[in-house]
Amino acid sequence: MSDQKIKGFTHERIETNNFLMIVLITIVLAVGGLVEIVPLFFQHSTTEAAPGLKPYTALQLAGRDVYIREGCYNCHSQMIRPFQAETLRYGPYSRAGEFVYDHPFQWGSKRTGPDLARVGGRYSDEWHRIHLNNPRDLVPESNMPAYPWLNTAMVPADAMTQHVKGMQQLGVPYTDEDVANARADVEGKTEMDALVAYLQVMGTSFK
Ligand code: HEC
Repeated sequence: MSDQKIKGFTHERIETNNFLMIVLITIVLAVGGLVEIVPLFFQHSTTEAAPGLKPYTALQLAGRDVYIREGCYNCHSQMIRPFQAETLRYGPYSRAGEFVYDHPFQWGSKRTGPDLARVGGRYSDEWHRIHLNNPRDLVPESNMPAYPWLNTAMVPADAMTQHVKGMQQLGVPYTDEDVANARADVEGKTEMDALVAYLQVMGTSFK
């Protein structure tokens, strides 16, 4: 008898019935997606901070905001894939635990420019300043835009207390002291200072 019922689900029946096809495809994709994604929420290697990872200082966090606002992610990824061609060029491949304090993460996939996941410490602060002010001064063939206004735009110090507090609420282990000091950390700093501070910490937690 049950054979009879299953017979109703023939290829012909499914493939000639749009609605049934859509429902079944949705079920298959949902199950497949859940099986792949759900375990990641419970795996320590993907949810626990990498050893040595520190929350961003308020200045670095402000620099990260500039990075997002200016759309640096449109040309730069922050994710070194586990292939030799990548690790030879950029350094050790990225671990999930290095990004648990990033809200939202900046992995990206578009690489008009090089990956930046381990750019921290690769150049001097001064190199970054000159490069961001006008990339062509250092790399004549570069098609990266210039960001000269970062030299004069000030970090919005008033907003940083709330910003750090917001990150704390998202689970980044800031102390109340960190929140209280956020303003002082960025006071009088330009967006260039902040962005360079952010670039210099990228990928440095990995030993
Ligand atoms: C239109 C694409 C584009 C955008 C947008 C862009 N870049 Fe670049 N970037 C490049 C290219 C291409 C290079 C390689 C040539 C060079 O060094 O200038 C590069 C190089 C770099 C380097 C040197 C990396 C290395 O390992 O040598 C850094 C650091 C950098 N970019 C940071 C930034 C930041 C920060 C922003 C946002 C404020 C940004 N880029 C926006 C295209 C871009």
